[in-house]
Order: sequence, then structure tokens, then C-alpha cells
Amino acid sequence: MRGKSVLLIIGGGIAAYKSLDLIRRLAERGVKTRAILTRAGAEFVTPLSVAALTGEKVYSDLFSLTDESEMGHIELSRSADLVVVAPATADLMGKLAGGLASDLASTTLLATDKRILMAPAMNVRMWQSPSVRRSAETLARDGVLFVGPNEGEMACGEFGPGRMAEPLEIVAAVEQAFKVRGGPLDGFKALVTAGPTQEPLDPVRFIANRSSGKQGYAIADALAAAGADTVLVSGPVDIAAPSHVRLVKVTTARDMLAACEAELPADIAVMSAAVADWRPDIAADSKIKKDADHRIPALRLVENPDILATLGHHKKRPRLLVGFAAETDDVLAHAVAKQKRKNADWIVANDVSANGSGESVMGGERNQVHLITATAQESWPDMKKAEVARRLVQHITQHFRETSS
Ligand code: CTP
Repeated sequence: MRGKSVLLIIGGGIAAYKSLDLIRRLAERGVKTRAILTRAGAEFVTPLSVAALTGEKVYSDLFSLTDESEMGHIELSRSADLVVVAPATADLMGKLAGGLASDLASTTLLATDKRILMAPAMNVRMWQSPSVRRSAETLARDGVLFVGPNEGEMACGEFGPGRMAEPLEIVAAVEQAFKVRGGPLDGFKALVTAGPTQEPLDPVRFIANRSSGKQGYAIADALAAAGADTVLVSGPVDIAAPSHVRLVKVTTARDMLAACEAELPADIAVMSAAVADWRPDIAADSKIKKDADHRIPALRLVENPDILATLGHHKKRPRLLVGFAAETDDVLAHAVAKQKRKNADWIVANDVSANGSGESVMGGERNQVHLITATAQESWPDMKKAEVARRLVQHITQHFRETSS
């Protein structure tokens, strides 16, 4: 779970103090927490202690214009890999079950596209009341995960279910929620690169390319959906990380290589990034100015490391290494040459010239690829990038099924 992030909603209840410990326990495991403290929650723990423990600003008011300009509530709701509500009060459960959005916490819960884990805490009679039962059932049906409540002596003196789960139990549930259990790639580690790299010329200029990252993000998503522990090393693009995928953002080819090597060993690596082949030999520290004689600066380029080839010849080489080949002519012949040169097991080759309607594969939604393996070449029809990703992952799954049997 290292590198993952949680959005923690702290509701109003005496158990809110345990949420402070939860933040620490998650941090010990390399999980970053950002917190929303409800108005009622702030009666039990202070924003200052939550901010000190998370090391982040604490969000609390839906209509704070400064908060909204820093990070809108929709963005906040999607900024983490998982949303945890602890303590989850009858009020928060009821609001989500009923689709109400009357404050920041409930709005965020409705707007999120991530899984929600709730740790309820309330008086035993409240927990057993028909309306809270209905909320809990509705939420469970909608896919909300629950941890606790535990049975025991309550702060109010009564006995029964209603105590919030202990921080370590919540940590275990968080860990569970990050995993897609039972998928065919459960237990496999996958590394994906995506997007362009940017090679700086000076603080304001860089060399890059038109890659949108869409194909690589879709592959990371499909690998994670098949259960692989997936890390996505991405150049600068404007796409949210798929859930269950750990995102490592990089800028240059050299950063991307370092980030990839740091993730080895991996079972599967899919290198779909459009890495810049060259970079300016010197990145100036200050902006390069025009000179009075209008002399045009000469750009000297040097070669970037080849990440696919480095991994292909690495002592910790991934068990299945898949490269891409972006070609504009002689697609298959060039792709096969790259497969050999870079010691890749498979190559996904595509023609990146603009199609008949002028839409380029780079940036577009669709792709028409050829899969070149050790023994075969297949041409797939034109399809959505998400479909290409699903098919590729089916082939990967099949490959491991065959090689392990
Ligand atoms: N690649 C890489 N590092 C580089 C260049 C490319 O890892 N510095 C990877 C890409 O992610 C892709 C494969 O190598 O998986 C082929 O990339 P492509 O741009 O098609 O080929 P190049 O090696 O750049 O060769 P050319 O420009 O001659 O087509």
C-alpha cells in the first residue's frame, strides 16, 4: 500500500480521536492522508491536530472560496485512491444512502469515483434502528465497504455493536480495499510507462511530443482490474490515475528510467510511453533571451537513455517485457527490428500517421495495433484504447497461465 493515498472523512463522534491514530498508522505504511473534518467532527478533534498529522491542509467547509480555488470539491473527491469515513456517523451514512449533498463531506462522498470504506461509530440503539439498518444495507449494495462496528462497552455506558473499529483493523481493511482480490493477475507486479517526456531547454521551454498517455493509462487500469499490483510511471499528462493504480509522475526520460528501475523487480512491464529520444545537451538555468543581433541559438541534442532497452538487458529484467513501436511506415518490419534490438518479448506496433479523417493515434481515442509475440503476429481491428488495453491484458493473463502450467 506504500505510495497510495486516502481521503479521510472524520465525522462527529467520540471515536474521532482514534482517527488521529489511524492517520499515523497509515503514514507508517507509506500511505498519505488528506482529511475532511465535518463540523461535528471538529467538536471532537481540532483541525490543527489533523493538519499536523496529515501534513496537509484540512478541508471543512463546502463554501470556502479559498478552498475551492485551491482544490475544488470534485477534484478533492477524486484526489485519493480510497475514501475512508471514520467515524462514519448515522448522519453521514444516511446522507450518502439518500443521495444528499448538504456539506463538503456528503458532497465529496457523492462525487467520488473511488471506493468508499466506512468505519461506523454510534450508539448501539442508533446502529440497530431500522433507518440506520436501511442505510447500511443500501450502502453495502452500492459497493461501500464496511469495517466494524465492534461490540463492547460504549462511551455512553451502553453495551453492544457501535464502537468504531480500532485503527489497526481499519488499516487492514484499507489494505484489503486496495487489492482487487481473485483477479487472474493477483500476486503479479506490473509496471507501465505512459505519456510523453519533457526535456527542458530552459525554465520555460521544453521538447516534447503529442502523446496523450491515454493508451498507457488504459493498460494500467486493465492490469489493476485483473488484480496486478500496478505502478504507472507517467510523463506530464492531464489524466487522473485509475483507481488501484499507484501513479509516479516524472518529467524527463532520465527521471522515467530512474523511476522504472526503482520499481524492479516486476513480473510484467509495458512500456507505452513516448519517450523523447533526444534532449538538449544543456538545460539553461534562466530563460534564454533573444540577443540584439537576432542570432538564433543552435540546439545541440544528446541521446536519452532507452528505457525499454535498458530493462530488456537489465539483471532484474521483467518476466514479460512489452514494448510499443510507433511507426509511420513499414510498421511491422520496424517493430520486429525494435523487438530484437531492445530485447522485448512482445511489441505492440501501431501506425501513428494521421488516419483518413485526420485524427492522429496520439491524442485520439482509438488505436489499430499489431501484436508481435515471440511466435506470432496478429493484427487487431481498429478499436477504443480501453479495448486494446483489455485485449492486451487478456493475452498477458493467457501467457502466464500457459507458462506456469
Ligand atoms: N522507448 C524507451 N526509451 C526511449 C525511446 C523509446 O523506453 N528513449 C520505448 C518506448 O516506450 C516504446 C519503444 O521503446 O516501448 C519504441 O519506441 P519508439 O518511439 O517507437 O521507438 P524509438 O526507439 O524511439 O525508435 P525510432 O524513433 O527510431 O522509431
